Amino acid sequence: MYICLEGIDGAGKSTQLNYVGEWLIESGFKVRKVCEPTNSDVGKLLRKLLKSPDANREDMQKVFGLLFAADRLILKNELEKYEENNEIIISDRSFYSSLAYQIHQDWINSLNKYAKKPDLVILIDITPDLAMKRCLKDDTFENKSFLNDVRENYLKLLSKNENFRKVDGSNGENKVKSDIKKAIAPLLGICIGGIR
Ligand code: TYD
Repeated sequence: MYICLEGIDGAGKSTQLNYVGEWLIESGFKVRKVCEPTNSDVGKLLRKLLKSPDANREDMQKVFGLLFAADRLILKNELEKYEENNEIIISDRSFYSSLAYQIHQDWINSLNKYAKKPDLVILIDITPDLAMKRCLKDDTFENKSFLNDVRENYLKLLSKNENFRKVDGSNGENKVKSDIKKAIAPLLGICIGGIR
């Protein structure tokens, strides 16, 4: 099982992913937490490039698309091993981030033809205004009009893909946490409260 959290910068994915991990372990599952960009050499290069002032230039999105797809293919082998080992994979981002952030949809779709598709995607939705309040603004993508476009792309993905569920990320941390649990529980046969 491959479950992924998506959303614009500042949505609270990493905090919520930690909660999901703890909850699934308490519920008796083997859990593997992953994140994109990864810690591979390509992932490290990406983190560096994301800080460049040119990062949100339109032509750069094709370059980012390639690098994110390469980073993802490196991760794919590991994901397959985890699944064989019956681990529940919980991920901070997936190829859907490339579809939301890198525009050029046809290009991104073809580059990610072999990427692993999450069984469930939780879209933590917040407004760009809230994102800007929460962000450290150290990445070039963290600007309001860019994040507005990315959010619109996510909402389009939500309407087109049956594996997407939306959670309102502007609610308090505990409410977001319980909404995410409600979205995941049926997939794993968990009764909320932790008893299967
Ligand atoms: P993020 O989850 O914000 O990591 P961190 O909290 O460590 O900064 O991801 C880093 C950035 O990478 C974020 O702005 C979104 C961007 N990104 C893409 O543009 N395309 C992708 O395919 C992925 C996976 C991430």
